[in-house]
Amino acid sequence: MLDLTGKNALVTGIANNRSIAWGIAQQLHKAGANLGITYLPDERGRMETKVADLVAPLNPSLFLPCDVQNEAQIQSTFEAIAEKWERLDILIHCLAFANKDDLSGDISSTSRSGYGKALDISAYSLLQLSGAAKPLMTAGGSIVTLTYLGGVRVIPNYNVMGIAKAALEMSVRYLASEMGSQNIRVNAISAGPIRTLASSAVGGILDMIHHVEQVAPLRRTVTQTEVGNTAAFLCSDLASGITGQVIYVDAGYEIMGM
Ligand SMILES: NC(=O)c1ccc[n+]([C@@H]2O[C@H](COP(=O)([O-])OP(=O)(O)OC[C@H]3O[C@@H](n4cnc5c(N)ncnc54)[C@H](O)[C@@H]3O)[C@@H](O)[C@H]2O)c1
Repeated sequence: MLDLTGKNALVTGIANNRSIAWGIAQQLHKAGANLGITYLPDERGRMETKVADLVAPLNPSLFLPCDVQNEAQIQSTFEAIAEKWERLDILIHCLAFANKDDLSGDISSTSRSGYGKALDISAYSLLQLSGAAKPLMTAGGSIVTLTYLGGVRVIPNYNVMGIAKAALEMSVRYLASEMGSQNIRVNAISAGPIRTLASSAVGGILDMIHHVEQVAPLRRTVTQTEVGNTAAFLCSDLASGITGQVIYVDAGYEIMGM
């Protein structure tokens, strides 16, 4: 039985109802987890209002701003968890960013600042959030991040994000090795292409989705709910022997050679 009752789960990366993190939060809630939600704050507070309205039915017991490029916000997020929950069991890292200009054209034209920003937000943040979570995972834990095939193979226009995903996937392995002795498991889900705010920035995303629909063994791409179900499984005791892995939730596309 998949049961997350009594588990405290921090979910990052919800921007709207298309976000993969939204699919994950719903499935964790369904399995009984107690949720904390973070959002990326903006000057006018629009994201706060939008995400608060969306997640209200899941009754999160924590709702906090957390820009992963802002050290103070990361610190106050984990201080709030320590104060309110004392213990953290689950961390969902479901965020990424690259400048739109860097998601098409020649990879050799990537600027130093664009490269740095993409790697900082999309890969380094996993190390940072995991490091902050570790002392709070006193009863063991599960950390799950989201990656894409473009971190392993060349996918047109994915460019600098592919390099960030390669770094992210290797970070998963090093973190799993570091944290295993504390019974903290670290895994990645490699999702097939889904239309979201972030993926819309990648040139030709609709063509990628159509290609997958024609070629993948299941002849379709996947949904946020399917990714959410796998995340809930990875966070549960049913996955107690799995760590350091990249699990493909992509309708089988990854096995195809042509
Ligand atoms: N959509 C896809 O096709 C697909 C496929 C495989 C993997 N992924 C990965 O899934 C994850 C979620 O993306 P999504 O597709 O749901 O898109 P999304 O736009 O809904 O989510 C991306 C999130 O990243 C957050 N974010 C960006 N910069 C941030 C920062 N500095 N601090 C904190 N949060 C920040 C945004 O606020 C947003 O909530 C990403 O890692 C993405 O690479 C997406």
